[in-house]
Amino acid sequence: MKKLLVVVMLATFAAAPAFAADVYTYEGKGVVTFNHKTHADSLGCEACHQGEPAKIELTKDSAHKEACKDCHTAKGGPTKCNECHVK
Ligand code: HEC
Ligand code: HEC
Ligand code: HEC
Repeated sequence: MKKLLVVVMLATFAAAPAFAADVYTYEGKGVVTFNHKTHADSLGCEACHQGEPAKIELTKDSAHKEACKDCHTAKGGPTKCNECHVK
């Protein structure tokens, strides 16, 4: 019974992706806001996820390179410290 429920839920996810959160915030140096939904809508999942989309562990280093900033440099998103780190 439980197994069946998991299968049904996975199928639902595959058909209509529902995020755990539309917007993520990272606190440390000020607050960085990542709007997952608007990024996903405009760029498509495969811009950031390889294979089946799943959680990405962000680190300071990855955020400042391939996970966030590299694409901003290439496609015109925010690249200055205080454009991402808002007080
Ligand atoms: C594209 C957005 C972006 C830009 C531009 C950016 N950062 Fe970040 N930075 C992040 C994100 C996201 C994290 C959080 C990663 C995490 O959760 O560990 C982070 C983490 C950090 C942290 C660690 C904070 C903590 O306490 O964990 C520091 C310090 C930092 N950035 C400084 C800077 C400085 C200085 C600049 C400019 C040279 C800069 N960042 C530019 C997105 C950005
Ligand atoms: C601009 C990059 C980017 C795009 C585009 C993107 N994601 Fe993500 N996604 C992330 C990051 C970063 C995380 C991790 C956020 C966190 O937990 O701090 C994540 C987390 C997730 C997770 C696990 C947590 C959750 O919210 O459920 C799923 C599932 C997911 N993404 C699916 C998708 C799907 C499906 C799409 C396309 C419709 C998509 N993503 C588009 C960057 C992106
Ligand atoms: C694959 C490309 C790509 C990746 C990866 C990406 N972004 Fe962006 N981002 C963009 C683009 C393009 C814009 C400009 C969109 C606009 O202004 O209409 C943008 C805009 C933003 C903005 C300003 C607008 C808003 O949504 O508030 C923030 C903040 C931001 N991104 C944070 C992040 C963070 C944090 C990450 C990493 C977790 C990230 N982005 C990863 C492409 C990307």
